[in-house]
Amino acid sequence: MLVAIDGTAGSGKSATAVRVAETAGFVLMDSGLMYRAVAWVCIEHGTEILEPELVALLASVPIAVHHRGLHMYVTVDGVDITDRLRALEVTGMASRVAQFAVVRRFLFAHQRGFGRRYADTPGLVAEGRDMGTVVFPHADLKFFFDAPVEVRAERRWEQLRELGIRTALPELRASLLHRDRADRQRDLAPLRRHPDAMVINTGQLTLEQQVELILEQIQACSRQRNPR
Ligand code: DC
Repeated sequence: MLVAIDGTAGSGKSATAVRVAETAGFVLMDSGLMYRAVAWVCIEHGTEILEPELVALLASVPIAVHHRGLHMYVTVDGVDITDRLRALEVTGMASRVAQFAVVRRFLFAHQRGFGRRYADTPGLVAEGRDMGTVVFPHADLKFFFDAPVEVRAERRWEQLRELGIRTALPELRASLLHRDRADRQRDLAPLRRHPDAMVINTGQLTLEQQVELILEQIQACSRQRNPR
């Protein structure tokens, strides 16, 4: 089974996707982490964010995506860089590199590979901005997460604090709005709700409720597929 969860930055997709994958025994694919990895490589190499430079970079730097149980991690040149990918500088750059066709094509291949490997067994939860609209339009279940920006900013602030990253709330709010705009307005695979996607307003729900809601849908879908 393939479950696609898309939505705005900080809407709680990642935390929910982790718990759903854990409980259902599915593999988790955090596609944002893949864009962050490309962004990190650009920063490290001082690459100009232009199409030819990105093409050269993706051809020459070995970026690989792995998973160990529920944990997804990214290596560059064999070194695990996952812990470095939540820094604010990487976040801003990820939103920029995500606008390039060459980057999206490159990651699309990785993402589809995850789908081929895990959708049937044990199942895949794919989380991002275009999972249900572009990468897996035939996903069995599609969800679209959103919440008011104030709620998202507070949640992000708390997450970053737990990671030891200090930031000001107004700055975080502005950065979320900026990313929302960039994600929604880009020409390629813009953030939008697939007509079949169930909208979940996470401003009014607890994490447990979000997880429960998706698990119920997974169970209903399995029952439909394997009626007794
Ligand atoms: O979900 P995230 O914050 O880790 O994503 C980082 C950036 O990557 C986000 O600003 C937009 C981009 N992204 C994307 O364009 N498509 C996806 N499927 C996932 C993320």
